[in-house]
Amino acid sequence: MIVLITGTRTGIGRALAEYLLGRGHQVVGCSRRPATIEHPQYVHHAADVTDVKAIKSMCRAIRADHGRLDAVINNAGTASMNHFMTTPAETSRRMFEVNFFAVLDCCRETVKLLRKSEEPAPAILNVSTVAVPWALEGQLLYSASKAAVEQLTRVMSKELAQFPIRVNGIGLPPVHTVLTRSVPAEKIDVLIQRQAFKRMCTVEDIVGPVDFLISRESGFITGETLFLGGVH
Ligand SMILES: NC(=O)c1ccc[n+]([C@@H]2O[C@H](COP(=O)([O-])OP(=O)(O)OC[C@H]3O[C@@H](n4cnc5c(N)ncnc54)[C@H](OP(=O)(O)O)[C@@H]3O)[C@@H](O)[C@H]2O)c1
Repeated sequence: MIVLITGTRTGIGRALAEYLLGRGHQVVGCSRRPATIEHPQYVHHAADVTDVKAIKSMCRAIRADHGRLDAVINNAGTASMNHFMTTPAETSRRMFEVNFFAVLDCCRETVKLLRKSEEPAPAILNVSTVAVPWALEGQLLYSASKAAVEQLTRVMSKELAQFPIRVNGIGLPPVHTVLTRSVPAEKIDVLIQRQAFKRMCTVEDIVGPVDFLISRESGFITGETLFLGGVH
């Protein structure tokens, strides 16, 4: 398969790219800064997903190189943990630019390439967070932007079913990455105690479900966000 993953320089996106490359897929990745992955089947674009022109130019390059996409993983994201009263308006808007509007734009631009796929049901997969079902205080903007992504997943799954492109999500509990490194260990522990499995989620826990959700084995699943760790 040819898979586009956004935000592959670090963290979960990088781990997913390396896993899927190991499984023999061709991966196209992007981030604002240069690549950290070197692999013959990997192509990196220095693209900011909040810049529609950059997304379009990446899609043109994918069309020239491969002619299609079989799966898109909208992973690039940002978080800011702050009481909403002390969150400046620009920070709030930036959060929605990266976490919501970039996902929307990426979906719209890549659908044209997904429609060229010969997979029976090409897949879009969006990354969400336990901050949504847990309505975590201090994470109003982060969780609201990801809640919007979960709603996008539900509505878009219906609008794209005719093609037939599937749209799903994966909801993650805390994982050790750059995104969470400034969160105090005690705060992470409190969250882990809310999970059914009381240990930190690792990238090894994530890659298998992601692989399944973009594969033809899950070809009749659409509009769902699957949460890991037992969080409901
Ligand atoms: N870590 C967790 O505990 C956790 C829990 C639940 C959900 N998530 C979600 O998982 C996803 C990945 O997070 P992570 O923990 O792996 O974070 P991370 O280590 O900070 O990685 C984020 C990646 O996205 C890229 N990125 C950020 N803004 C971008 C932009 N505007 N355009 C293009 N690329 C951009 C970054 O590269 P550049 O800086 O080079 O652009 C980086 O490669 C996010 O959607 C996050 O909300 C994470």
